[in-house]
Amino acid sequence: MSFHQEFFTLNNGKKIPAVAVIGTGTKWFKKEETDATFSHELVKQIEYALTLPGLVHVDHAEVYRTYPELAEALKNTKKARNEIFITDKYFVQEKITSDPKEGLYTGLKRTGLDYVDLYLLHSPFSSKEKNGFTIEEAWAQLEELYQEGKAKNIGVSNFRVEDLEKILKVAKVKPQVNQIEFSAFLQNQTPGIVKFSQDNNIQLEAYAPLGPLSKRDESEQAKPFYNYLKGLTEKYNKTEAQVLLRWVTKRGILPVTTSGQPKRIEDAQNLFSFDLAQDEVDEITRLGLTHPALRLYWNPLYDQYNTESQKP
Ligand SMILES: NC(=O)c1ccc[n+]([C@@H]2O[C@H](COP(=O)([O-])OP(=O)(O)OC[C@H]3O[C@@H](n4cnc5c(N)ncnc54)[C@H](OP(=O)(O)O)[C@@H]3O)[C@@H](O)[C@H]2O)c1
Repeated sequence: MSFHQEFFTLNNGKKIPAVAVIGTGTKWFKKEETDATFSHELVKQIEYALTLPGLVHVDHAEVYRTYPELAEALKNTKKARNEIFITDKYFVQEKITSDPKEGLYTGLKRTGLDYVDLYLLHSPFSSKEKNGFTIEEAWAQLEELYQEGKAKNIGVSNFRVEDLEKILKVAKVKPQVNQIEFSAFLQNQTPGIVKFSQDNNIQLEAYAPLGPLSKRDESEQAKPFYNYLKGLTEKYNKTEAQVLLRWVTKRGILPVTTSGQPKRIEDAQNLFSFDLAQDEVDEITRLGLTHPALRLYWNPLYDQYNTESQKP
């Protein structure tokens, strides 16, 4: 079977693999990094992902506390560095490292890498009082890392419109990416964020794209959505997960997924073995919007937007 991969082009002209198949957060996330919490299972899944054809996109963050597992998998893989796309993130909420520059240098040292392909500010909630730097100052550090070539692309995560506006006012390098929660059941993490990012040529990435599957809604009201999805799985001979991930890409958004099951990782890497018609994309969008907001992350801060999050 021939393998076909697709890419999005970022606002600096560089290409990014259009799906990230192994995130090391969520199910792999750890509160503490010790010998006892080292996950051999995660190493195995990253190693497996790195045996798949094409450029393999790995999503990591310092707060996941999975540097040891990533380092181990990178040490063992035969895949060339230029066939691996690695994202890392600086965690603003908690001082794991003192600032974004130290965060990336530490991550590089711990993984044995010379550079990451994408470095993100994990959230906009930085302040002079708490962090010692504003979000604009944090961004300036990412720009330095970009100039130094330590981060080939830079961006943000969980940013609202007002947060992006702050950065765009001062940026010498515009964010290439905004990674947000996005699924058929949460089509705007925060008000207007999808349109604003896309209008400003900031590539959106969708984490938790499989919310409708991992938190399957068995209610009567959700039936039309799941029935329609089932019809598409039969038409294309693909899994529900593949149809939902493909839908995300057809919305111009890059899905970030993960799994402990090799077959699911392979299915995600094989996402471009089929296509959805525009009317099918529109119907998933429409049926998804009839569902109440399903928000899985950052609830204390963003639940206030739930009504607006289910507007196109
Ligand atoms: N920037 C941020 O703030 C942020 C926040 C959250 C996540 N992320 C990143 O995004 C990555 C992915 O997030 P996510 O785990 O929420 O993504 P997701 O793709 O929505 O969910 C993945 C989970 O769905 C399960 N799954 C896959 N196919 C399924 C199916 N057909 N039915 C039921 N469950 C299914 C998988 O379980 P199995 O393992 O059993 O296959 C896995 O645990 C994270 O690892 C992290 O790298 C970033």
